[in-house]
Amino acid sequence: MGYDSIIENDIQHIYDNLKEKLSAIEGTTWLICGGGGFIGAYFLDLLNYCNKNLFQKPCKIICMDNFITGVPDRIKHLDGNENIVMKKADVSKFLDIDEAVDYIVHAASIASPTYYRLYPIQTIETNVLGLMNLAKLAMQKKVKSMLFFSTSEIYGNPAPEYIPTEESYNGNVSCTGPRACYDESKRLGETLCVNYYQQYSLPIKVARPFNVYGPGLRIDDKRVIPDFFNDAINKGKIDILSDGSPTRSFCYISDAITGFMSAILSEHNGEAFNIGNDEIEISMKDLAKLIAKTVGNTEVTYSDSEDNNYLVDNPQRRCPNLSKARKYLDYSPAVDLETGLSRLYKWYKPEIQGGCENEQSI
Ligand SMILES: NC(=O)c1ccc[n+]([C@@H]2O[C@H](COP(=O)([O-])OP(=O)(O)OC[C@H]3O[C@@H](n4cnc5c(N)ncnc54)[C@H](O)[C@@H]3O)[C@@H](O)[C@H]2O)c1
Repeated sequence: MGYDSIIENDIQHIYDNLKEKLSAIEGTTWLICGGGGFIGAYFLDLLNYCNKNLFQKPCKIICMDNFITGVPDRIKHLDGNENIVMKKADVSKFLDIDEAVDYIVHAASIASPTYYRLYPIQTIETNVLGLMNLAKLAMQKKVKSMLFFSTSEIYGNPAPEYIPTEESYNGNVSCTGPRACYDESKRLGETLCVNYYQQYSLPIKVARPFNVYGPGLRIDDKRVIPDFFNDAINKGKIDILSDGSPTRSFCYISDAITGFMSAILSEHNGEAFNIGNDEIEISMKDLAKLIAKTVGNTEVTYSDSEDNNYLVDNPQRRCPNLSKARKYLDYSPAVDLETGLSRLYKWYKPEIQGGCENEQSI
């Protein structure tokens, strides 16, 4: 479940789209928090790819992760790399970084509903205390830019007239429900970002990802796409734990990373950007059918979760309005859901892994 030709191909695709912007960061130092996770690991791979293919003077990369949900195997290929320092640490605790730092990415968080509900206090600490630690570090190091990973979940369950949802929508969120540890700590995180910018001129930006998926997402992560693949690959049956009507818009990782990188390299301090894919808002029922078709020989069934809180405060619909990201970041997602799912399936299927050197570029 590590780096392979599919991820390499994604990285090349991101690099081709961002080459001009990336040339500006030659020789800088990056602190990637949550670098052992799905999104953080793509940042590490992209910077490493630039070191090999673009820069005379390489970037220094510090990866920080406590591996509460991260997968050491995903970034094992970077062990021993002279430009990369791996620090096993918790961002919510005291941070001791000797090196100069130019850019900070705060992508550390428990992100899957199943796991943040098991560790609610750690989730809040990471999004609030971790962010404050990193913001203070950013000021001390006089960073050029910082990016905080918020979430589309800060919108809660919007009324239909607010779908697609734009950044100015204030949200419809419970502060005490089973998802509140995540939603509300991300919301306070965003409040901190805006105020660190306004009070101290910290050059910080906020990304609000809308259901990003792709290689590197643990198959046992329990978010819906890996969960359906897990069911289909290992049981030949996708069990939907709702009536199948809730909708989501899914964004393939190479598109999302292009958006995140464009945000941190932009001048839009104190601003939040939706990053996702607005091409299709798909129901869980249709997503299950699509994954069943991708894997083959899979039936789709319905049952109730054993967890009574499973669907409490679960948003009924989720779709981003991307006008702001398109206008200010030149963001334009391009990978359709079928293509993205088939790439992820190839990454999940161990017998196919390693056999995709001729994978078509996306
Ligand atoms: N993937 C998505 O669709 C999505 C959607 C919305 C928001 N986000 C946000 O994007 C960020 C990255 O998400 P992801 O999908 O890569 O999740 P992930 O679980 O794959 O990665 C998160 C990483 O953070 C690490 N981590 C957690 N708490 C930590 C702590 N206190 N100190 C150090 N490391 C810690 C985990 O071990 C893991 O490696 C998170 O902030 C998440 O909330 C992701």
